[in-house]
Amino acid sequence: MTKQYKTLGEFIIENQDSFKYSSGELSRLLNGLRLAAKVVNHEVNKAGLVDILGEAGDTNIQGENQQKLDVLANEKFIQTLRKREIVCGIASEEEDDFISINSFDNNNQNKYVVLIDPLDGSSNIDVNVSVGTIFSIYRRVTPVGSPVTMDDFLQPGTKQIAAGYIVYGTSTMLVYTTGDGVNGFTLNPALGTFYLSHPGMKFPETGNIYSVNEGNYVHFPQGVKDYIKYCQKEEDDRPYTSRYIGSLVSDFHRNMIKGGIYMYPTSSKAPEGKLRLLYECNPMAFIAEQADGLASDGKQRIMEIDPKELHQRVPFFCGSKKMVEKAKEFMK
Ligand code: AHG
Ligand code: MN
Ligand code: MN
Repeated sequence: MTKQYKTLGEFIIENQDSFKYSSGELSRLLNGLRLAAKVVNHEVNKAGLVDILGEAGDTNIQGENQQKLDVLANEKFIQTLRKREIVCGIASEEEDDFISINSFDNNNQNKYVVLIDPLDGSSNIDVNVSVGTIFSIYRRVTPVGSPVTMDDFLQPGTKQIAAGYIVYGTSTMLVYTTGDGVNGFTLNPALGTFYLSHPGMKFPETGNIYSVNEGNYVHFPQGVKDYIKYCQKEEDDRPYTSRYIGSLVSDFHRNMIKGGIYMYPTSSKAPEGKLRLLYECNPMAFIAEQADGLASDGKQRIMEIDPKELHQRVPFFCGSKKMVEKAKEFMK
């Protein structure tokens, strides 16, 4: 007999009272993301059959080639969020500047800003490897009724009110937190419904997986090199296993379930690191901490970094608590 799972829709409604702000609004926002996730999932699954593989022919503000699916996922999330009269602004990896959403119907009462990486790991699309979406949600800091400004987006991660990701993997999952633990929902594609399959997700306190692009080894700071050597040393429960998909969402998801550490350090090639603070590191850090894990730039807690610009990059060390603490010791 198949187990009876709660649906994401039911879960959102049941838990809306625990949310300290106007609950109905956050529920509607999460429902919007749920819908966009299903649309993007449908598109990702068709890749290979229709003409959506490959490069779109443009580069984004960070000089990266945009894939067709990057552009498509970006459009779908923006379209869906625009319609809901909850969001006053959106920032995306694929947009140079933030998008301001004026809702004349409700006199600009929208209170939330959303920051997204619409398609994470996009270099993996053409080869049928898991990709994802990452989102981060804040209350605006400027008064409702006034135009949204950069200040609404440049908030430290500690101010997030919700964050999550979708992993388009062997099955599609939506995983999110509103600051009360982390819950994972698996999509039943036949019904188009997400079901609560992974309640109360937690990082094991320690693990035996390290995830880093080791091809960059020679460019890493000495502390990171030393930690990698520590992971490889035959002693106690080591050497650890090396696993690196190249999609942050998928690498993180695996490590949260199995126990592990993900690292994207600075290197002489990428002096600030590669991952973006606002729509990659902060949301993942919020989820990690809510799941008993840690996220650091090597020195500081990711969520306490004061952001200076929309597409700011930071080094990122995230995962099982004991492993991140150990890596930090090496970087002192
Ligand atoms: P995006 O596709 O959104 O630009 O993100 C790619 C990121 C992240 O998902 C991944 O972990 C990392 O880049 C991989 O970078 P390398 O290829 O340099 O290892
Ligand atoms: Mn990304
Ligand atoms: Mn992306």
